Amino acid sequence: MIIMWKNDITKEIEKKRLKIRKDEDLFETVEEVFDTRTLMALYRIINKGIISEMRGVVKSGKESRVYWAKDKNDNDIAVKIYLTSSMEFRKSIFQYIQGDPRFKVVKDYRKMIYTWAQKEYKNLQIAYEVNVSVPKPIYVYENILVMEFIGENGVPAPLLKDLSVINIELFNQIIDAIKKLYNKAKIIHADLSEYNIMVRNNKIYIIDFGQAVTIEHPMSYEFLLRDIKNIVRFFRKNGIDVPDDEVIIKWIKEV
Ligand SMILES: Nc1ncnc2c1ncn2[C@@H]1O[C@H](COP(=O)(O)OP(=O)(O)OP(=O)(O)O)[C@@H](O)[C@H]1O
Ligand SMILES: [Mg+2]
Repeated sequence: MIIMWKNDITKEIEKKRLKIRKDEDLFETVEEVFDTRTLMALYRIINKGIISEMRGVVKSGKESRVYWAKDKNDNDIAVKIYLTSSMEFRKSIFQYIQGDPRFKVVKDYRKMIYTWAQKEYKNLQIAYEVNVSVPKPIYVYENILVMEFIGENGVPAPLLKDLSVINIELFNQIIDAIKKLYNKAKIIHADLSEYNIMVRNNKIYIIDFGQAVTIEHPMSYEFLLRDIKNIVRFFRKNGIDVPDDEVIIKWIKEV
């Protein structure tokens, strides 16, 4: 039997209260959008010591929510939680996983989302390994992906679409990144546009790799061309003189 001094008992109760309060805060932060399984998964990641504190929502989309959080060393981290309830997502997810030899297609929808999160994590990992500028992947579990936070003090860096000054240097960085992804990581982003590129201190960061495919995917050429067209269109719209799609694609495919 463990005998505690009254003082210790008070301390224990205080500790428990604090924990409950922390749990309540967590629930408040992650709100009612997440089901019990997602909250359990989040607890698991917290208990593993990967996340120490959830701060606020950075961005709430149709398919996911991105949170600002802290790791145990007080570094900012980003936590992307895929919504297991999004119908839109159910429809779009399928075509990308289908043609990818790395993932076997599963019928269970929840598992499909887990696969999606895994896929984003793996794609970030190989991109990061070949020095493409992406948020450093930290951890993935079920529908939750933890990565480096791109921004400062919980404020995300602006997306390319929101920048006030657009220059050719940004274009060159993006095309370089697409080339490295293609030749070294052997993947194509497949949803690249001014909406999935963040810019911090004039440096681009490509985000949102869930749908990225390997170059063996049957639609890989179409995806690559679409990515390039989006980028070319954006820069031309902003008055920057950039080469034509065919010239770029040829350059990208050159080893
Ligand atoms: N690592 C990160 N650090 C900081 N902010 C991030 C990070 N990743 C994503 N964000 C922010 O969250 C937003 C959504 O992220 P992302 O594009 O990966 O998700 P999504 O599901 O495609 O959302 P949406 O449907 O809104 O595009 C981004 O536009 C960006 O503002
Ligand atoms: Mg996005």
